Amino acid sequence: MTSTNQAAWLDAVGQPLRVGSADILKAREGEIVVRNRAIAVNPVSCKAQDTGVTVQRWPVLLEYDISGEVYEVGAGVDKFRKGDRVVACVEGPMNPDSRHGAFQLFSVAKTVTVAKIPDNVAFTEACVLPIAFNTAVVSLCAPLGKGFGLPVPSLHPAPSGKTIIVWGASSSVGVLTLQLARAAGIMAIGVASVHNFDLCTSCGAVEMLDYHESSIVQDVVRTVQAVGGSFVGILDCVSIPEQSLKFCIPVLEHLGGGELGILSPQVQPEVSNKITVTHIFGMNEITHAFWRYYITPALEQGKLKCLPKALVVGKGLESLQKALDVLRKGVSAKKVIVEL
Ligand SMILES: NC(=O)c1ccc[n+]([C@@H]2O[C@H](COP(=O)([O-])OP(=O)(O)OC[C@H]3O[C@@H](n4cnc5c(N)ncnc54)[C@H](OP(=O)(O)O)[C@@H]3O)[C@@H](O)[C@H]2O)c1
Repeated sequence: MTSTNQAAWLDAVGQPLRVGSADILKAREGEIVVRNRAIAVNPVSCKAQDTGVTVQRWPVLLEYDISGEVYEVGAGVDKFRKGDRVVACVEGPMNPDSRHGAFQLFSVAKTVTVAKIPDNVAFTEACVLPIAFNTAVVSLCAPLGKGFGLPVPSLHPAPSGKTIIVWGASSSVGVLTLQLARAAGIMAIGVASVHNFDLCTSCGAVEMLDYHESSIVQDVVRTVQAVGGSFVGILDCVSIPEQSLKFCIPVLEHLGGGELGILSPQVQPEVSNKITVTHIFGMNEITHAFWRYYITPALEQGKLKCLPKALVVGKGLESLQKALDVLRKGVSAKKVIVEL
C-alpha cells in the first residue's frame, strides 16, 4: 500500500489541472501499483479537458500511458515483482475509479497491459508506446468490423502480400502502425511531411508521400499500383474531414474501394458502398497477447523502437498542464512527456 499519493486532477470541463492529494493505492487481484516515472499525453486528453469526452466521473485523472517501477503486486500476479521496470497502459478516465488514472505519482495497472522494459530503454522512451501501440495493434489485427483483420506481427515476419496506406504516418499511432506492419510482413505506404520521411522509412514504410502536394491523391494511387500486393485500405491517423478524409476517400474510390480506418468516433464520413468505414478503438483485449509476449522481446531485439521520440516538457505533476497545452498546439513526430 502506498503511504501517500498526489495527483493532477481535472475538476470540470475547461478547468486547468489542479495538483492535490489522491487516494492511497493498494493492488488488488491481477493488478500492480506502479510508481510512475514518466507520463505521456495523447490528443484525447486535450479533448477531455476541452469537452469532457471519455470522462465517466468528475473529478478525473486523465491518461493511459505510464512507465515506472512496480511498487506493489496484487494477488495472483506472478509475472512482475516489486522493483521491476515496466511500461503500462492504464484504463485512465475510461474507468470511473481514479485508481486507474495516469496523472498521479502512483497508478494501478491491470497486468494484462503491462510489460517489462529492458535495461537499455529509459522510462521516458518506453512511455511513448502504450495507447498508440494498442491502437496500431487493433487497427491491423482486430477482425473486420473492429480493425483490418490482417496477419499478426511477429519477431520473425514473413511477407503477407498485403498493402496498406498509413495517412498521418509520422503521428504516434502512425509510426507504431508502420513498425507493426513491417513485423507482419505488410507493405505500408506512408503519408506525412517531407521532414519526417526518414523517420517513417526507418519504421518500415516502403514508400513515403507528402500530403502538402496538390497531386497527393494521384501520387498515392500511382504508388499503390506500383508497389503492388493485395490492397487493403487506409488507416487515417489524422481522421479530420477537411485535412485527411477529403483525400483518403477519393484515393479509395480511385483504387476501387477498400477499408477506411478512422480513429475519431465522432467522425462519420459519407462514403460509397465500395468503402467500409471502421472506427478503431485502441482498448481491446486483442492487445493483451502483445503485452505478454511481444513488447519486451521486441524492445530487447531492437525490433520495436520507442518512436516517435519523447518531447519532455517538464518534471513533476505541475508540468502536466503544460504538456496538454503543448500537445494542443500540435506536434510533428513527437510524443509529449512529463517526467516524475
Ligand atoms: N481511437 C483510439 O483508440 C485512438 C487512440 C489513439 C489516438 N487516437 C486519435 O488518433 C489521432 C492521432 O493521435 P496521435 O497521438 O497519433 O497524433 P499525433 O502524434 O499528435 O499526430 C501528430 C502528427 O499528425 C500529422 N498530421 C497533422 N496533420 C496532418 C495531415 N493533414 N495529413 C497527414 N498528417 C498530418 C503530423 O505529421 P507531419 O508533422 O509529418 O506533417 C504529426 O506528426 C488523434 O485524433 C487521436 O485522438 C485514437
